[in-house]
Amino acid sequence: MSLVSLLKPAGPSGYGYGTTAEQATAGLDLLGRTYVVTGCNSGLGLETMRVLGLRGAHIIALARTVEKAEAALATANVRGTKVACELSEPASVRAAVATIVALGRPLDAIICNAGIMALPSLQLQHGFELQFFTNHIGHFILVTGLVDALTQQGRVVMLSSDAHRAAPREGIQLDNLDGAQGYGAWRAYGQAKLANLLFAKALARRFEGTGRTANAVHPGVIATNLTRYMNPVAGLLFKLLTPIAFKSVAEGAATTCFVAAHPQVATSSGLYFADCNPRTPSKRAQDAELAERLWTKSEAIVAALP
Ligand SMILES: NC(=O)c1ccc[n+]([C@@H]2O[C@H](COP(=O)([O-])OP(=O)(O)OC[C@H]3O[C@@H](n4cnc5c(N)ncnc54)[C@H](OP(=O)(O)O)[C@@H]3O)[C@@H](O)[C@H]2O)c1
Repeated sequence: MSLVSLLKPAGPSGYGYGTTAEQATAGLDLLGRTYVVTGCNSGLGLETMRVLGLRGAHIIALARTVEKAEAALATANVRGTKVACELSEPASVRAAVATIVALGRPLDAIICNAGIMALPSLQLQHGFELQFFTNHIGHFILVTGLVDALTQQGRVVMLSSDAHRAAPREGIQLDNLDGAQGYGAWRAYGQAKLANLLFAKALARRFEGTGRTANAVHPGVIATNLTRYMNPVAGLLFKLLTPIAFKSVAEGAATTCFVAAHPQVATSSGLYFADCNPRTPSKRAQDAELAERLWTKSEAIVAALP
């Protein structure tokens, strides 16, 4: 718990900045529930999986390799199913979808947690900027493939970030997804996180009239392996500032667990949450027309992938 955690009051939900994932799920009985968690082997994904498992849930644990998922399940000490899912490889994501569907378990939530941040130089995968491709397209394939496996009250939780505000002025540069017209590390991360947010919004629109929901989350600022591409001094500074200004991993996983499992948000959809309460995202993130254009473009991209 940092100094800021101590100073910030709880919000209308009764939870706030300093709430931990264990506190946000205290008293919940998730026995018989099933949660898919991507990026389960590190940082917020590991803590999310641990805490939902602690409450009795069965976790479908996704990591780049089965070995990583298996080790994470053991570390978190939860019951679960290990599944390989390399989000930047469509064949791997499709195989993960097939494996999960074959399990025949109704899914209570799909938590799209995995992500990479601020690659210093442009990297391409299948012709697309890697953060956009991994963080958005990989999850787009996963979620659209698993939608029918969701329970009637199933939830989709997209890990976005307040860094979505760093996206380009036009939001998503649909004509520059290969970075050929310019690349900035934080701009590209912001664009990818805005894509996560807009995807949740477009999905929520498709869920209207059903009991299913889709929301996006800002977990806070937390020193995790996410800083791996930052220069080492900035990474160290991040760690040093944590006791004063940033969240712990336990606090960082709280909003995800709250939105994925808490009864308070059972019918909330199309929203952006931070500190376990709704937060207003950027203007671009509220642009329903942009969300639809991104959806259409994503479908076209996915259809053309090997
Ligand atoms: N930490 C923060 O301050 C912060 C702030 C705002 C938003 N977020 C978001 O929170 C989420 C979790 O981040 P974190 O802080 O927990 O970071 P982290 O510790 O680096 O964890 C990221 C996870 O994503 C996985 N991943 C990365 N690339 C992947 C790929 N191509 N295929 C499959 N899995 C992949 C990583 O697997 P490997 O370990 O195998 O690479 C790891 O399990 C991210 O979406 C991030 O954008 C974090």
